[in-house]
Amino acid sequence: MELLHAFTVLITIFVGILGKVCAEADFTQWHPPGPGDSRGPCPALNSLANHGILPRNGRGMTIPILIKGISQGLNVGNDLTIPVGTVGLLASDSLLKLSFDLDDLSKHDELIEHDASLSREDIYFGDNTRFNSEIWQSVVDFFRHDERVNTTAAARARFNRVKVQSGRNPEFTYSAKNMIISYTETAQYLSVFGNPLTGNPRVDWVRTFFEEERLPYNEGWRPPKMTTNLATVTAMTLELILAGGEVLPEGLEVTENLVGKILAGKPIEGIIGNPPIINRIL
Ligand code: HEM
Repeated sequence: MELLHAFTVLITIFVGILGKVCAEADFTQWHPPGPGDSRGPCPALNSLANHGILPRNGRGMTIPILIKGISQGLNVGNDLTIPVGTVGLLASDSLLKLSFDLDDLSKHDELIEHDASLSREDIYFGDNTRFNSEIWQSVVDFFRHDERVNTTAAARARFNRVKVQSGRNPEFTYSAKNMIISYTETAQYLSVFGNPLTGNPRVDWVRTFFEEERLPYNEGWRPPKMTTNLATVTAMTLELILAGGEVLPEGLEVTENLVGKILAGKPIEGIIGNPPIINRIL
């Protein structure tokens, strides 16, 4: 009897959690951050905070808060949020808090933040956190005449950022880990504003996301019905690599296992170092 009771309690808790996770987010309450609110280099977490789907002040991001906000807001799976969120926790000033503030994520290189971002400057030039319209425009130039961002344009725009920054930043770093993380970021915006299998988001939706840190709900966007997960992001990363023509470090095979390990901040034997293309550029 006691066992049955315990089982019922567990199921009730599970259904309660599930109900909360599945409940729809309210996308209509967007406000720009106020004074004292924390924002960081990730346009997705910033946008979710601007909508109040994550805490508006951008502080105290725990794994359960991230799971709920990211799944309701963008339909991104826990197999991505948990490892990336855990690496985010490592950026926090106090590990004991088991949470981070969005600006903690600006810590460079060892964790997630890297050079050659799509919409931020490299740390060498000062501000690697705030949106930079000139840099973002150099990305938009690759698809500004199109209605949708196709994989080839997105891949070329990303790789162009690597080439430009490696030429102008004397302290440019671009390890294999940085490279894969950067690819997964492009895969993520193609997935959540387009389709996790085929990408192809509307250009205006992507621009609203980066330029205003707002989810383009008023313009007709809804979270995709299909979840963006580790498998879909890995497949799209491979497609982007092929489309952009970047040479991978010898022996680097981009598998779900490898991408999962990189996102979880685990050491990757044999791939740490600069991809060969950068050695040619420098
Ligand atoms: C716990 C979850 C997440 C964490 C801790 C996180 C963290 C970060 C960090 C630190 C960066 C900066 C990388 C850089 O230097 O460019 C970044 C960039 C980015 N993130 Fe997130 N992120 C998370 C979830 C997501 C999700 C769900 C999306 C879905 C669209 C996303 C999309 C992006 C994009 C597109 C960029 C590239 C920005 C740019 O290059 O300018 N992130 N993220």
